Amino acid sequence: MTDHFEDLHDAEGLTADEEKLLDELGLEGESRRRFLGQVGAAGFSVFALQLIAEREAHAAGEVPLEPAAERLPLENAVKVAFKVNGEQRSVTVDSRTTLLDTLRERLDLTGSKKGCDHGQCGACTVIADGRRVLSCLTLAAACEGKDVTTIEGLAKGETLHPMQDAFVKYDAFQCGYCTPGQICSAVALLDEAKRGEASYVTETTGNRPAKLSDDDIRERMSGNICRCGAYPNILKAIKEVHKGEETAATWNFAKPGLLDKEVDDETV
Ligand code: FES
Ligand code: FES
Repeated sequence: MTDHFEDLHDAEGLTADEEKLLDELGLEGESRRRFLGQVGAAGFSVFALQLIAEREAHAAGEVPLEPAAERLPLENAVKVAFKVNGEQRSVTVDSRTTLLDTLRERLDLTGSKKGCDHGQCGACTVIADGRRVLSCLTLAAACEGKDVTTIEGLAKGETLHPMQDAFVKYDAFQCGYCTPGQICSAVALLDEAKRGEASYVTETTGNRPAKLSDDDIRERMSGNICRCGAYPNILKAIKEVHKGEETAATWNFAKPGLLDKEVDDETV
């Protein structure tokens, strides 16, 4: 058993294949030890190896940075042709690749964010054929012939989409990580309302366009989580674009003397 293990693994615990891969990547000496340290924490998949090695080698100026996917032979390659932000694109990807990874890793459209990668946070929301989809749960191969819009495709040149404008106006974000998904979701949500589609809390169905109550907007946006808790301002931004009316602020600056009076009242 021990002999067999030693046949397969060298002193660094590498198999012959892994050894060969490291040699091919030109990783030796210190950079190799540093790399193996990182791999120990990351797990030993060949793809992880490739990605970390790529970073190492690039940092050392040894190889040009090009997507690993383009150098690795694809096991189940499929060619997908679809429109992204109005432009016809064609990529060859592993049949298991998600739309999110295709957008971010292959098409350099990094606006769509990977939050949970499990369909639970909404950070990766994009619009496909006019409907919101979670790109982390959508296979790129299933997008053949579709028309996909990401956050990068909403503005027209220097002019922001009205929803983007409203998010800025109402400060509807803090860190901004969830914001591309929130905005894509909000844009598609308004189209759902125009089509008269009901949500779980819609009281009167059949209206086109549907008039969205605050609860209706909250319900329809419930798949988009904001860790910063910017929900009140997100709601205001969406309401303004939906109704076309400014959403009044519900707070006022304190007037001089008011705070003093409150302090005096409390100390009586
Ligand atoms: S990253 Fe897709 S839902 Fe969280
Ligand atoms: S603005 Fe930070 S997660 Fe939403």
